[in-house]
Amino acid sequence: MFNQEEFKRKLENWLQNNPRCTPNEIKCSYQVLLGKEEYFQNKWVVDDILNWYSVMYHEKKIERQWYHTIDFGNGEITDGIYDHRPLLKYYGFPESLKGKKVLDVGCADGFFSFEFERRGADKVVALDTYKSDFFLLAKEKLNSKVEYCLMDVYNLSPEKVGYFDFVFCGTVLPHLSDPFRALVNIRSVIKKGEFICAAVIHKRLTEHFPLFRKRRLFALLEPGRPGSADGNVSTYWIPTADCVAEMIYKAGFDKAVKQGTFTLKGYSRAAKRKEIAPHVIVKAIVD
Ligand SMILES: C[S@@+](CC[C@H](N)C(=O)[O-])C[C@H]1O[C@@H](n2cnc3c(N)ncnc32)[C@H](O)[C@@H]1O
Repeated sequence: MFNQEEFKRKLENWLQNNPRCTPNEIKCSYQVLLGKEEYFQNKWVVDDILNWYSVMYHEKKIERQWYHTIDFGNGEITDGIYDHRPLLKYYGFPESLKGKKVLDVGCADGFFSFEFERRGADKVVALDTYKSDFFLLAKEKLNSKVEYCLMDVYNLSPEKVGYFDFVFCGTVLPHLSDPFRALVNIRSVIKKGEFICAAVIHKRLTEHFPLFRKRRLFALLEPGRPGSADGNVSTYWIPTADCVAEMIYKAGFDKAVKQGTFTLKGYSRAAKRKEIAPHVIVKAIVD
């Protein structure tokens, strides 16, 4: 029988030993604390407890590691889980975004939003489902005008946010149960413009199975256990690279083309492990 108090006690214990972690990262650990079967049987109770954890975290009672490595230009550089700076070349962003209205879907600590501003965008809107204190701190330190938009991509629409010339969505799709709905919403806020999507892919299926690659487009439903694919239980789908491009095309873009693949590597101190996620970049347009 699942004992809620016992689980809370284990969770608090775990937090003491892993003080710097995000609500997302702690999700990776619930199955370790509980065991797989017990977790699935009690998912809703556990989610409630994690909401409680989230509130504590947002009230700043718990310190966490930066998600992004961000250089504030004054010698101060954040110690993020991921350093995207050397990887920017793979993303294929336009050198100049002058005159463009830009949307960053799933901005986290805002590394990409600030990069778009640096590239001269007229306006950058950074959207996420939670308010990152780190984003706000970085915005202040960079003296940035990026606008924060607290919104779920499932609720995104032109009525709510207007239209954009350039939209980026980085490493969000695997965390969505319904990535199609998200892509259709993203498409709805582009009248004419470009969309760059960075998505986690299943490397082995993408590279080693020519039949799958050419004739079948796959997305595997992740079982959600630490150690699977990216080790994150909030992961739903791990598609092949072609599958990502086809999904984007089917969401209503006029063209969706794979630009290349790369591996995102980082280190999470909370989870005490390397994070390795093969990615594809797909560039899509509405013309
Ligand atoms: C893996 S992080 C990627 C951050 C950043 N885009 C990047 O490429 O480095 C995924 C981000 O997507 C956000 N996210 C997850 N589900 C979302 C949703 N339904 N709507 C908007 N953002 C979401 C998470 O809160 C998180 O900040």
